[in-house]
Amino acid sequence: MIVKESCFMEIRLWRELLIPYELAVKDLVMKFKLLQKEHREKNLYSPIEQVTGRVKSINSILEKMQAKHVSWEELEEKIEDIAGVRIICQFCEDIEKVAALIRNRSDMRVLEEKDYVTQGKDSGYRSYHMIVSYCAETLAGKKEIHAEIQIRTLAMNFWATIEHSLQYKYKGNVPADLAGRLTEAANSVLKLDEEMSLVRSEVMDAQKSMLH
Ligand code: GTP
Ligand code: MG
Repeated sequence: MIVKESCFMEIRLWRELLIPYELAVKDLVMKFKLLQKEHREKNLYSPIEQVTGRVKSINSILEKMQAKHVSWEELEEKIEDIAGVRIICQFCEDIEKVAALIRNRSDMRVLEEKDYVTQGKDSGYRSYHMIVSYCAETLAGKKEIHAEIQIRTLAMNFWATIEHSLQYKYKGNVPADLAGRLTEAANSVLKLDEEMSLVRSEVMDAQKSMLH
């Protein structure tokens, strides 16, 4: 009976903790989707192609706390991706445009930026990460929380999604031959993004010269 009650208490504490994060993810996803809509309504090209978000599962938070030796008290300061938003762009040059849009907003404050686009990780992973501080307003009042925003192209996202599933399948120990092929695939993704950008700029140049 006592065990059951303490379990309920723990679930209540987790629920309470995660409410502002759930709110923040919903707010942020909605705001970025509205930015995309606003571009389209003004007949402007939108650097935002897709937006998704998630609140990290309690299991994943617990695993990360254990791996990084983070206590309950340190949790909200040290685990910065409890709230996660992913913005997918068509072209590599859109990533910087999205980052600039975020830097210029007054409803979120950029705390940290990590550029894995110009300098990919050894795994082959490429993406632009921003940690922002965002004010979530719940019944309990205002709360500043951290959220991780990942910005990447469709091609980078394709690679990261497959690589993530393989890491999951092999519990982080992907066989060397597969890991090698993933690195090669990452190089192909880089080339694909470059080629798509070239095609786009040639098309745009052609359109401009037709207008003159
Ligand atoms: P953590 O927050 O503990 O992950 O450490 P960190 O802050 O140094 O992480 P980093 O900014 O490098 O990465 C944070 C997130 O990026 C991860 O949770 C993943 O979603 C993603 N990521 C980083 N590296 C990889 C990778 O090699 N493959 C894939 N698929 N995703 C990655
Ligand atoms: Mg991190």
